[in-house]
Amino acid sequence: MNYASSQTYTLNQASADDASDVLSGFRNQFYIPQHHNSDSIYLTGNSLGLQPKQTEAYIKQELSDWATHGVEAHFRGKHPWYYYHHFCEEVLSELVGARKQEVAAMGSLTNNLHLLLVSFYRPAGRKYKILMEANAFPSDQYAIESQVRFHGYHPDDAIIELAPRPGERFWRTEDILRCIDEHRDELALVLMSGVNYLNGQFFNIREITAQAHQHQILAGFDLAHAIGNIPLQLHDWQADFACWCSYKYLNSGPGGVAGIFVHERHGHNPSLPRFAGWWGNDESTRFEMKKGFHPQPGAAGWQLSNAPVLHMAAHRASLDLFKQAGINRLRAKSEKMTLVLKQIIDQYNQMATVRLQCITPDAMDERGCQFSLIASERGKEVFDVLTQHGVIADWREPNVIRMAPVPIYNSFLDLYRLKEILFNLAK
Ligand SMILES: Cc1ncc(COP(=O)(O)O)c(C=O)c1O
Repeated sequence: MNYASSQTYTLNQASADDASDVLSGFRNQFYIPQHHNSDSIYLTGNSLGLQPKQTEAYIKQELSDWATHGVEAHFRGKHPWYYYHHFCEEVLSELVGARKQEVAAMGSLTNNLHLLLVSFYRPAGRKYKILMEANAFPSDQYAIESQVRFHGYHPDDAIIELAPRPGERFWRTEDILRCIDEHRDELALVLMSGVNYLNGQFFNIREITAQAHQHQILAGFDLAHAIGNIPLQLHDWQADFACWCSYKYLNSGPGGVAGIFVHERHGHNPSLPRFAGWWGNDESTRFEMKKGFHPQPGAAGWQLSNAPVLHMAAHRASLDLFKQAGINRLRAKSEKMTLVLKQIIDQYNQMATVRLQCITPDAMDERGCQFSLIASERGKEVFDVLTQHGVIADWREPNVIRMAPVPIYNSFLDLYRLKEILFNLAK
């Protein structure tokens, strides 16, 4: 595949790319928001994924079982609610590269992060600090600040924020590894994004974890922007824990059920401190209603409450599409789409007075499908013009436009149409 920068992306090329795309049929399984009676160019799956058409049927099935069986649907429903979270395990474990017992669909992202920090942020003596990337998503910052305060430390002292080098836009892995090394005697935890929400950088989870482990430091990851975007191998990479949401690349609806990963070496350790709830208790004795918490082995032992079945039904609807599409095939299409998008942006920049500087790493193994762009001037105006022409991208203060062609529902024709709009803008 060669998108030489001298050629522009033509309608013929886009049609040929769509025709040869083995995943093209999946687009029709989603509702595409409309703009003046035609499909918008939806490039915001990094924020909220689109609705699969089958979501409604999955939710209706549970409403119907509720109507038919009432409480008895916990055991007599088509998909018994008592075990409902298990129905998400297979695909989630494939997406993050884990054993089934290492994942659980549960709760919400920030709640789960707190629960995991209770277990895995265990400051002791001189080792009480947390290393994270500077300007991480605010909810992560707030969660970590409040956790260190909860343990009696001050965030300014207990949180080490690593920024890219002056004048650079993304982090060098070598700098992250060196920082872990330099602070090895004071770090209790390294907590990073999988993919940074603002610049789209994919961090090297394997190397970061290995470096942390060399110094008996735990490593956890917020995969909000990574899951469903990039194939992951959390088990083999030895990550200690991870959490994610499902409303971005996993298309499971606003505020949808989130998920966690706990490596099996921790998941089988019932003596780990944790905040417990009855759904984390051993399934076979849960309804005996006895005193004394006995966690189920694995990530499921971190559950607190009974499953939000209607949200989980939406989750299953999308996960079933991922099962059919396969994360590796999605990634292959995603890589091809990002090469096209990059070429379009580069060519636009050769013509335009308002340039769009890409702050996402170029290297394929350091990014997923999101591109983050900074306009040389009047960024919001550029963004607004795109919106008026039916491009749904997103704007992050103070000046970042994020665009993500999502392989499960975006087409190459979307990219061709984006090119036409951008090139007109450049004139
Ligand atoms: C990286 C990251 N962390 C945390 C959150 C907060 O998620 P929630 O509101 O589901 O807790 C988000 C939301 O977009 C996010 O992108």
